[in-house]
Amino acid sequence: MTIKVVSRWGSGTISKLIYKSIFAMTSTKNIVVLISGRGSNFKAMYEVACAEQWVQKIGARFSAVISNRPDAGGLSFAQEVGLPTRVVDHKAYESREDFEKELIRVCDEFHPDLIVLAGFMRVLTPYFVNHYEGKILNIHPALLPMFPGLHTHERALEAGIRIHGVTVHFVSSVLDGGSIIGQAAVPVLAGDDPDTLASRVLKQEHILYPRAVKLVIQGKVKLQDGKTVMDFDASKELAIF
Ligand code: GRF
Repeated sequence: MTIKVVSRWGSGTISKLIYKSIFAMTSTKNIVVLISGRGSNFKAMYEVACAEQWVQKIGARFSAVISNRPDAGGLSFAQEVGLPTRVVDHKAYESREDFEKELIRVCDEFHPDLIVLAGFMRVLTPYFVNHYEGKILNIHPALLPMFPGLHTHERALEAGIRIHGVTVHFVSSVLDGGSIIGQAAVPVLAGDDPDTLASRVLKQEHILYPRAVKLVIQGKVKLQDGKTVMDFDASKELAIF
């Protein structure tokens, strides 16, 4: 089966398969994922993307998985499903800026429309964040603005709160301080320890993050003048309780 193509360089016929590949290369939006560890959030969103056929239905694909740790478990999953992977080991660079320069170079190889931090454990400086303004998402295991930073589950138990959760937000140069996109609430139950609480939160992460990534890559959720904007339907999907 062939298709007639008319372009400014002339006209002719090409096979339907080649036409579809060229079309996919030019119009598909690229999601680049940054990880540091096991990558369960990446796996969850990849599986949702396959089940919902993001490539065919919304024109979005995962174009690469990049880790700052050579031993990150999530790299094996990415390789198994045939995605390009790269390691930019932060230990090999003298300064954060040198590391981020290389990280930008490697990310840009995959033409990112969106950069998804999924358990990426390096603080990013304005140098990186400004390069991709409004195009970086992060997931944080707490209901921001409560408990930015590390050890969120321990701190939630220590504070005695009854409702904990997870937040997806745009990344700004303030650590865990960018505009909020979505949140899922999780009960704190009697007898919880940081591990039981973390695994209850993680289940919600795996539901919330794919939804948020999908809505952002579709342009239904955006960052405008430092604030997240979305319509009523998107807002209902992004508040889980
Ligand atoms: C998740 O709890 C996420 O919220 C936090 O780091 C953890 C990463 O887990 N930012 P995984 O690597 O996606 O399994």
